Amino acid sequence: MPYAHITGWGMAVPETVLTNEDLAKTVDTNDQWIRERTGIRERHVARDDEFPSTLGVDAAIKALEVANLRPTDIDLIICSTSSPEYIFPATACIIQDRLGANKAGAFDLLAACTGFIYATNMAAQAIRSGSIKNALVIGAETLSRFVDWNDRGTCILFGDGAGAFVLQASEEPGGVLSAVMHSDGSGGDLLSLPGGGSHFPANQDTIQDGKHYIHMDGREVFRFATRVMGQASREVLELAGLTTADVQWIIPHQANYRIIETAARYLKMPLDRFVINVERYGNTSTASIPIATVEAIEKGKLKNGDRVVFVGFGAGLTWGALAAQWTGPLPAERIVRVERYRTWARARSLFLRVIRFIEGLIWGRNS
Ligand code: ACO
Repeated sequence: MPYAHITGWGMAVPETVLTNEDLAKTVDTNDQWIRERTGIRERHVARDDEFPSTLGVDAAIKALEVANLRPTDIDLIICSTSSPEYIFPATACIIQDRLGANKAGAFDLLAACTGFIYATNMAAQAIRSGSIKNALVIGAETLSRFVDWNDRGTCILFGDGAGAFVLQASEEPGGVLSAVMHSDGSGGDLLSLPGGGSHFPANQDTIQDGKHYIHMDGREVFRFATRVMGQASREVLELAGLTTADVQWIIPHQANYRIIETAARYLKMPLDRFVINVERYGNTSTASIPIATVEAIEKGKLKNGDRVVFVGFGAGLTWGALAAQWTGPLPAERIVRVERYRTWARARSLFLRVIRFIEGLIWGRNS
């Protein structure tokens, strides 16, 4: 049975930064309150022409560069997102087109902020089963589009961004070691975006009632998160036959500094073995774990051979954890310039659209 190694990583965030001071100019809040209660100082917010797909493509290209793979080498793309570009088509398919990943199956996965853990596990299991060799997992969000900027209980929390991992099959032991995925739909109403789906299709009433915004019972979500983060980490370690002493890093979902502190206390681990960057990005939902991972690598913290636990929670309710031995890129015979594929992918996409249009003319569909 092949092992599923994480061999590439990348991240992308919008340039625009929104600080706590900026927010305090528009809602009744202040920097001190936000920092003390959440640990957040600033977050990145997408421009009008930035979307989960554009951020996702940027992160994916960097991940493919690290793994030294062409987009055409990818068998499967999973995009975990809580702010998909449309209900359909899937954001993963938009990314597939922009990358020119012409061999890949592509789908979105919705498990809110736990999505990246679910998606990485799904990709790893597909590799372990032998059905695919190379997978691209992307967490991409522009939650700023769904935030009520007048609601101080939520608008201070969220930020935009994307992160990506490449997973590859190898006979060498290592890579993804174990994973746990949990859910409790009875808590679905604690954190939801009710409007625009088939229960509340978008209309004037749903807009008037603010159903197109994120609704959250912050205190209850906080209680749930502090309970499950430590538990899931312990579970995934037990499954891999490891203890906290065997892992170098815990990379948690970045929602709130205090939630991470509670998890550290539960696990009896010092906070300096947790990768934390919530102060600069806020909660980027499914993107937070890969963004924190990329920064940990760039800062020289996470190294090849290290054991790491990713742990997250989110709407659903969902929670989960994944243990991995960090691999780094597999040996390669050639250097791939992935950036060049952007132009090729654009040309390919245009060509396919033109062909479809001409076929439509021939068969009378566009007349
Ligand atoms: N600025 C100033 N005061 C505020 C603000 C603000 N931004 N927000 C709330 N307050 C006030 C409240 O009105 C309340 O005042 P009151 O006591 O007079 O009623 C007081 O501060 C305390 O409010 P709490 O809600 O109890 O504050 P708490 O310490 O719980 O912090 C927070 C709120 C930060 C939202 C916290 O509950 C939290 O982080 N919860 C988890 C949220 C989360 O992680 N969500 C994402 C999940 S992942 C996903 O799936 C997207």
